[in-house]
Amino acid sequence: MGERKLVARVKRDELPPGAMRHIDYPPFHVLLVNLGGVPYAIDDTCNHAGESLSRGELNGCQVVCPAHGYVFDVRTGHIVEPAGLCDDQRTFEVTSEGDHYLVYDHVIQVLGAGPKA
Ligand code: FES
Repeated sequence: MGERKLVARVKRDELPPGAMRHIDYPPFHVLLVNLGGVPYAIDDTCNHAGESLSRGELNGCQVVCPAHGYVFDVRTGHIVEPAGLCDDQRTFEVTSEGDHYLVYDHVIQVLGAGPKA
């Protein structure tokens, strides 16, 4: 496994519970989410047609893509709706350290949900 690189260091008080943030770190575009004090990071680029998920809406643990309304679980990257019509989103390593969230370029999950529509 290659060496992981720090992509972003975000102050916890700049990302309150329920907040989302887009992190640009070419070639990565990461969506960082705070769910009740627990940080999650998934690929911000929707694998359906490339829209930025950070421009969408967060409903609990699910983010709704603003382009076509596909729904992903930010904890796992799994496609929730419409099931099977899109791949899952990649997820990235994110940790809490002191008063910061640290996001790494280490992809911790690459999942496929089946054929695209
Ligand atoms: S680009 Fe995200 S649902 Fe189509």
